[in-house]
Amino acid sequence: MSNKVEKDEFSGTDTTGHEWDGIKELDTPMPRWWLWTMYGTIIWSIGYWIVMPAWPLVSDYTAGVLGYSSRGSLERQLAEAEAAQAEDRALLLATPLEDVKDNEGLYQFALRGGKSAFAVNCSQCHGSGAAGAPGFPNLNDDDWLWGGSLQDIYQTIQFGIRSDHDDTRLGDMPAFLTDGMLEKEQINDVTEYVLSLSEDRKDTAAVERGTQVFAENCASCHGENAKGNRELGAPDLTDAIWFYGKDKDVVLRTIARGRANVMPAWVDRLDDVTIRQLALYVHSLGGGE
Ligand code: HEC
Ligand code: HEC
Repeated sequence: MSNKVEKDEFSGTDTTGHEWDGIKELDTPMPRWWLWTMYGTIIWSIGYWIVMPAWPLVSDYTAGVLGYSSRGSLERQLAEAEAAQAEDRALLLATPLEDVKDNEGLYQFALRGGKSAFAVNCSQCHGSGAAGAPGFPNLNDDDWLWGGSLQDIYQTIQFGIRSDHDDTRLGDMPAFLTDGMLEKEQINDVTEYVLSLSEDRKDTAAVERGTQVFAENCASCHGENAKGNRELGAPDLTDAIWFYGKDKDVVLRTIARGRANVMPAWVDRLDDVTIRQLALYVHSLGGGE
């Protein structure tokens, strides 16, 4: 290996002077266009450092003369989106809930907004498809504890059920054993009676005795025919749709120890546009009246 720089006789370019087994390395210069592109990127980057946020400092960064930030850009986009919706929002506030359906564009706007507000605020309890869970009602069916009209649903969402709001819906399922209103046997009998309303029960004597217990203790809220009472949120006990569960243990527990599940009030947390959107959305799920 020699280090003598010489001209390559075929290409006419210099060699680097490196040679291995008779193979010499050419010192071909970079093409001009490539060099200028590289200088261009260097100049561009200097300009970029000056106008855009670029260099980290100890507890800050160089903001750049344009003052751009992705957070600021997001805020601007949100404000633009809100401005674009302003017309629909104002119209939704001005339109009675029952009439929104007549304006297809407005109705779709409400359903879209309601669906996303539901995913954020309601799905933890009612499930992402609003199908509910024991103690959290299914909002897709037409079995309503408090009523399924737009106004009923709107009121429920605004003020909640047994919530801390003054205008909350109220109605309690008493604890008949804990509070000493009924004996254990009576509770078993009335449980048999309640179950007999939606399925065949073998212990007909207990069902018979339970009928009497029901008339004296339960009909005031659940109705003579056990069809429920929406004023009090007392469920229909005849329809085989169970709020807390259909097993005898669960029904026994409800009657012995009472129930009082809470649905929060939203009027202080969500704006009226969102609550209206939610009412229309829940009403649209299939069970709306
Ligand atoms: C913390 C849990 C929780 C959250 C969050 C929640 N709910 Fe509820 N919701 C309940 C419970 C529990 C009930 C049943 C209360 C009862 O026992 O009557 C209920 C009942 C309802 C009812 C009445 C159903 C009927 O049959 O009359 C509607 C409508 C409703 N919720 C809509 C909503 C909407 C819309 C949201 C979101 C803004 C929401 N809920 C958020 C727990 C919740
Ligand atoms: C003061 C009114 C009131 C009285 C009296 C009352 N209930 Fe209730 N009951 C309710 C309310 C309200 C609920 C719903 C509780 C909730 O939403 O958490 C309920 C719920 C129930 C449930 C649960 C239904 C389900 O779908 O899971 C059963 C079962 C029941 N009651 C049976 C009875 C029986 C039996 C009696 C009589 C021994 C009785 N109730 C007396 C108001 C009452």
